Amino acid sequence: MSTQIRTVVVLGSGTMGSQIAAVAALAGYTTALVDIKQEQLDRAREQLTARLDRDVEKGRRQRADVDAAWERLTLTTDRDAVAAEADLVIEAAVEDLTIKRTIFAELDEVCPEHTLLVTNSSNIVSSRVADATGRPDRVCNLHFFNPALVMQCVEIVPHEGTDPQTVERMVAFVESLGKTPVRLQREIPGFVANRLLNALRREAVELYEAGVADFKDIDLAARTALGHPMGPFELMDLVGIDVVYLIRLAEHEQTGDADALPSRSITEKYEAGEYGRKTGRGWYEYPRP
Ligand code: 3HC
Repeated sequence: MSTQIRTVVVLGSGTMGSQIAAVAALAGYTTALVDIKQEQLDRAREQLTARLDRDVEKGRRQRADVDAAWERLTLTTDRDAVAAEADLVIEAAVEDLTIKRTIFAELDEVCPEHTLLVTNSSNIVSSRVADATGRPDRVCNLHFFNPALVMQCVEIVPHEGTDPQTVERMVAFVESLGKTPVRLQREIPGFVANRLLNALRREAVELYEAGVADFKDIDLAARTALGHPMGPFELMDLVGIDVVYLIRLAEHEQTGDADALPSRSITEKYEAGEYGRKTGRGWYEYPRP
């Protein structure tokens, strides 16, 4: 059985998937970024080009490294063709259990036997998709943070049936990306970092909804009193209010905990399609989404 990872496939070319694919290509992996929509792939190419060109301009990366990464990166709608060659598939599609289970079952059919199948989900733990495959020992969560090109941490979360060797391979993979692996001993929706963040976000939204302070002032406090790089409302706009909303629903669905349900103001923004940076308006306004 091949244990060397050379070829990486990332499914879903949204904010997370596209940057994860760029990180893998920059680290030297032959990488494919897959989406069902060509327009979404075109947008991802445009955004990554702008981002990486800016990094070169600012002296953060070498032009030759970025050009070499583009040589290694394919953007395609033909999932099965690239999955058939993959050593590792990172699923970063929508936070919907039914869709993820279908994807994992289909990947199991087309990928070689040795291929590791991991999900970037932070809320849908991998035991919920592993049993849709015939290789649950090669399935786990591999959770990146937004923006994935910048944030160091990647959480590695095995389910009960994950082979310890799969975890070791993911630790080595994350290190090869120049990032910091954080291992969990067992599954819990949200993992570690997002649970810390959720506690802060929940309190921030409660303070805002209770009229204690405006959201801008709550952000100001987080930045200037706690030294956070951005406040909880700015961060929701970065991550996507749709993502925050769907994560809460998924957590509620898994735990039955009424406290997990999205709060009033988040539900309102979600229903109004005000998702944050990507739609031009969330808590704040963005002239160029
Ligand atoms: N994509 C890639 N790179 C980005 C970026 C993005 N969206 N935004 C900023 N950067 C990089 C760029 O290199 C940028 O430099 P540039 O403007 O010259 O191109 C550099 O960061 C600095 O950016 P800014 O001057 O705009 O602002 P900051 O100094 O505040 O840095 C930040 C931006 C790195 C995003 C920083 O604010 C930060 O660390 N924020 C917290 C992010 C965070 O908490 N992420 C975790 C979210 S939770 C999550 O992802 C879990 C998931 O399951 C939902």
